[in-house]
Formats: sequence, C-alpha cells, structure tokens
Amino acid sequence: MATTPTSQAHPLRHLLSLEHMPQAQMLALLTRAQALLEADRSRAAYDTLAGATVVNLMSEPSTRTRASFELAARRLGGNVLNLDVSNSSRKKGESLLDTVYTLQAMRSDIFIVRTATVGAPQMIADHVDPDVAVISAGEANVSHPTQGLLDMLSIRQRKPDFANLVVCIVGDIAHSRVACSAAHALACLGVGELRIVAPPELMPAADAFAGARRFNKMADGLKDADVVMTLRIQRERMAQSSTPDPNEFHAAYGLNSERLRLAHPQAIVMHPGPMIRGCEITSTVADGPQSVIRQQVSNGLAVRMSILEQVWRTLRDIDTGADIDADAGGV
Ligand code: NCD
Repeated sequence: MATTPTSQAHPLRHLLSLEHMPQAQMLALLTRAQALLEADRSRAAYDTLAGATVVNLMSEPSTRTRASFELAARRLGGNVLNLDVSNSSRKKGESLLDTVYTLQAMRSDIFIVRTATVGAPQMIADHVDPDVAVISAGEANVSHPTQGLLDMLSIRQRKPDFANLVVCIVGDIAHSRVACSAAHALACLGVGELRIVAPPELMPAADAFAGARRFNKMADGLKDADVVMTLRIQRERMAQSSTPDPNEFHAAYGLNSERLRLAHPQAIVMHPGPMIRGCEITSTVADGPQSVIRQQVSNGLAVRMSILEQVWRTLRDIDTGADIDADAGGV
C-alpha cells in the first residue's frame, strides 16, 4: 500500500471556488497531484479514503468529470455512489437539499455537486453536518475549481515559470466556468499575462476577468502566447437565437495550425473537453504535438485524488476534534 502524507498544513473542507484559495494551498494540492500521477503509472494502491462515502450528485450532464471523481475516490479506497439527480427524486419534486439530507442520513461524507444553479453548492455547504464536505464539479457559468486545478497542473508540467507566461483563453468566455476558474487560479499563481479572445457577444461583462487583456481578433490575442486554452461553446446556456453558427465561429475563432503558428513555437494547446472538432479546434491541432488535451484528462484524475485526500483528512480531523477551522479552505 502506498503512503500518503499526514501533515494537515492546508486544511480544506469545502471546495467551491478557487477565487480565495491561498497560493500555498494550491501549490500543495498540485504537488501532491503530481506525485499521485507518477505513482498511478505503477498502479499504486491506496486506502486513504477507506470508510469514506463519496456521492456524485450531478444535475447537469457529466461524463468525464463524474468518471474522474469516481475513479479518483475508488483508487483511494473510498465508496462511491453516482446519482443523476435530474432523473430521480428531483422529478418527484424533492428539493436538492432534501436529497442531500437523505443521503447524509445514510452517512455520506463528501458530496460532489454539478449544477446549473448559481449558489447551489454554497447553499448545500451551508446546510450539511460539520463533518460533511462539498466539492463543486461545475457550478453554472461561475466556477469549476477542479478543472481550474487540473489546468494549472497541465501548464505547470510544461511551463512552470508562471510569472513569465502569456496565457490566451479563446472562445465562449462569457458562459465558461472553466475560464472563470482558470483566471482565478492563474491570478493565484501569479501569471504574467492573461488574454481573453472572443467575439463581442461571447465576451464576459466588463467587470469580470479583472486584469485580463481583451481581444476580438485571434491574430492579435494569439501573438507569442505560451498557452492557448480553447473552450467548448456552451449552447445549453444560450438562447437558440444567439447560438453562433459553427462554421462562422470556426472561420473567425477556430484554432487551426495556421493560427497556432502565431503563438510561441513551443506553445501548448488545451481544451477541457468535450471538444467540438472542426468548430473550436481542428483535429490536426487537437491531436498534434503541441496538444496537452489528453494529459489534462490524466491530470484531472490526479488532482481529484489530491483534493479528496485533503478533504477527507480535514473531515477526520474535525471528527476527532483536532484544532482546525471547520470552515477551512477553498470556499
Ligand atoms: C467542462 C464543463 O462541464 O464545465 N467540461 C468538463 O468538466 N469535462 C467544459 C464543457 O462542458 O464545456
């Protein structure tokens, strides 16, 4: 059985946003994730989460994030329950909170929540028992903290000097929780420059993404960038009438080889998935040598293991009355 660190230098109970995460805590989570990633290659086995029950509570579609959390919890020896809440008790009119209370009464420890409702993860966190935790797996268009952390790990593996990086996020920024969490995490790690590139109708409000440079033209935003992060167009968050035409979007904002040549020659290309090939990105770029898209998926598993370990350790300390702040970290 592989060993896990026991120090509780960075207690973390709920993880709902990266906005106020201390840099030391973020770095500790990323460092542990990198170690777990390397150990995973040799099929290391853990029992860190033995006795813990993790509930995937997804009320928006999710394949990769749900699978990633499930495998992360199982590889640490935890129990996992997957619930598609949009298809069960919610249809009978039960509130999300009542579903949580029901599962809590069955001794669930960690709720992984994906929701289209702004504020729902915080509302659940405010109501659960003191030895129960909530981790956001994507909240409407505002936050996706585990994605933000896996994106930072993916950048750090190839471009560790954040202070000298130009990161360019391209596409549907206005509806993207991935972009929001990336911006919070990049600020936390002291990124040199953040650029956002989008058509005017997909630009976020003027007061969002403080400090980012805004561009409407790909050629301007991509110039000499070290990291190019593409995004899925979030059709589910748009009125039918305002959905961009995929061909027009591709012509102006799709990342193809020619455009990628405007970035730094060693630039890396990212996408959170699921990708719409031929719209946001071409297959040549997505599967090409500069792409880290599949590595992002592997990193996602390691980051979620790192977070689950830390959250479970915090809950155990709360249970045993150790001297830590029960609302510690991350929220
Ligand atoms: C992202 C999400 O759901 O926010 N995907 C993911 O977590 N795998 C991005 C997206 O759906 O566009």
